[in-house]
Amino acid sequence: MNLTDKGLKIIKVADKQEGGKKAFELIKEALENGAEVFGLATGSTPETLYKEIRDSSLDFSDKKAVNLDEYIGLAPDHPQSYHTFMKEHLFDMKPFKETHIPNGLADEETEPNRYDEVIEKNPIDVQILGIGTNAHIGFNEPGTSFESTTQKVALTQDTIEANKRYFDSEKDVPRYAFSMGIKSIMSAKKIILIAYGENKAKAIEDTVNGAVTEAVPSSVLQQHDDVTLILDEAAASKLELN
Ligand code: F6R
Repeated sequence: MNLTDKGLKIIKVADKQEGGKKAFELIKEALENGAEVFGLATGSTPETLYKEIRDSSLDFSDKKAVNLDEYIGLAPDHPQSYHTFMKEHLFDMKPFKETHIPNGLADEETEPNRYDEVIEKNPIDVQILGIGTNAHIGFNEPGTSFESTTQKVALTQDTIEANKRYFDSEKDVPRYAFSMGIKSIMSAKKIILIAYGENKAKAIEDTVNGAVTEAVPSSVLQQHDDVTLILDEAAASKLELN
């Protein structure tokens, strides 16, 4: 493990299989240390972690999950919704006592407040994050205030392009989402950010070595005191590590 000047812990792994195992070990340790609320992410990055959790004997039946985000306009049972993703990758096989995900069909005025109340009632012990090629965390795109709480966000063209692989065509990708805000993410006691692949290398370099600026949402993590980055060789390729 490497510790950067800014206090970020970095674990380099060979590939996403090993990354899933390392992230799983951290989740297991958190569980053993009494973690109750797990902040979870969707997308391709956490898939190997969720497989490790599914295949394990860990019991989450009295734990809670609070997800980062959901597309606006997709019903929970839509095949591409994040509700469906979480059911298929984790919740159907590994039940939690409570699972919370923003409702993509809810009223846009009231849903952010409702979700903030969920987060306030269930302070997150461990937050899993992926990262966008543009350094977004959750769906907090570049320029989002570090003081943000849950809000409706407009997805950038980069994000739409990156996520179109899950849809029939680009025009089917929702343009808006509800996302937990940066302030809420930063309130998690422990954060584990996972990144794989060359296309994340620049975002990771900026996260670790760049200026802390709202232009690079993930750079805020330099201000948190318990962040572990799990990176494969390609994602770590722009960092100078031992
Ligand atoms: C997903 C999320 C996003 C993704 C990011 C990376 O809940 O909040 O920030 O983590 O877009 O996506 P993948 O893992 O598909 O590269």
